[in-house]
Amino acid sequence: MPKGFKNLNQAENLESKRQTNSIKTPLHIAIIMDGNGRWAKKHGLPRIQGHRKGVDNIRNIVRIAMINKIQYLTLYAFSTENWSRPASEVHGLIELLASVIDRETKELHKQNIRIKHLGRTENLSQNLQRSIQKAVEITKNNIGLTLNVAFDYGGRNELLEAAKNIIREKVNPDLLDETSFEKYLYSSGIPDPDLIIRTAGEMRLSNFLLWQTAYSEYYFTKTLWPDFDEIDMDKALSEYYKRKRQFGQIEDESN
Ligand code: IPE
Ligand code: IPE
Ligand code: MG
Repeated sequence: MPKGFKNLNQAENLESKRQTNSIKTPLHIAIIMDGNGRWAKKHGLPRIQGHRKGVDNIRNIVRIAMINKIQYLTLYAFSTENWSRPASEVHGLIELLASVIDRETKELHKQNIRIKHLGRTENLSQNLQRSIQKAVEITKNNIGLTLNVAFDYGGRNELLEAAKNIIREKVNPDLLDETSFEKYLYSSGIPDPDLIIRTAGEMRLSNFLLWQTAYSEYYFTKTLWPDFDEIDMDKALSEYYKRKRQFGQIEDESN
């Protein structure tokens, strides 16, 4: 039985859905990992324990993404707005990222995973900047899953930075189009997400991938991020396979 599935039927069902609907597996899934605080509260624990549990779940979700042959997985880990949380929580979240990079990079590299960072780095400590650079550098030629970690990421900041760089480089406005604009984004070269998953019940983007989500499908679940598992991913994928993506066109009537 494929790893990550609780029973064989579940894995077979999903596989047959893929084949009979001839709908392509999403190339890129992006997840807004929300609900760590509520998970902690529910278990009578301090918020940081929820974040710890949430970070632990990343390993699980990477494994599930690989089983499902997802090629790009983007995880929203810390937004430009999250700096306005209490200093102790911000500090705890940054510490967690630092320790997870140091702890996991070797294993991710072994699994042929390419790590990318989306977001600003200038507000992070020199040490953390170096750790991120190192993880990106070591794994840059890997051809398995691409794991994008959105940390100190904000969609508006990304668009603003792109605009600033375009102006700095004195790009000819008549030559600027969507393809050349995309090269100025943190996500340059990464295909747009096919599916955005948000956990913990909120139905908003919270400044995530504003440009890239123009034609993404959305899946919202009440499951809190630390509890999000292969069953939830299966549900999200089943829902995705039911969607009819039109990209502004109409169905070919000859079909
Ligand atoms: C998501 O969990 C993690 C981050 C935003 C860093 P939250 O910390 O937002 O959890 P809730 O929304 O308070 O439950
Ligand atoms: C979005 O979650 C950011 C991340 C998951 C990193 P938030 O919990 O910060 O979003 P809001 O504040 O509820 O919109
Ligand atoms: Mg939240």
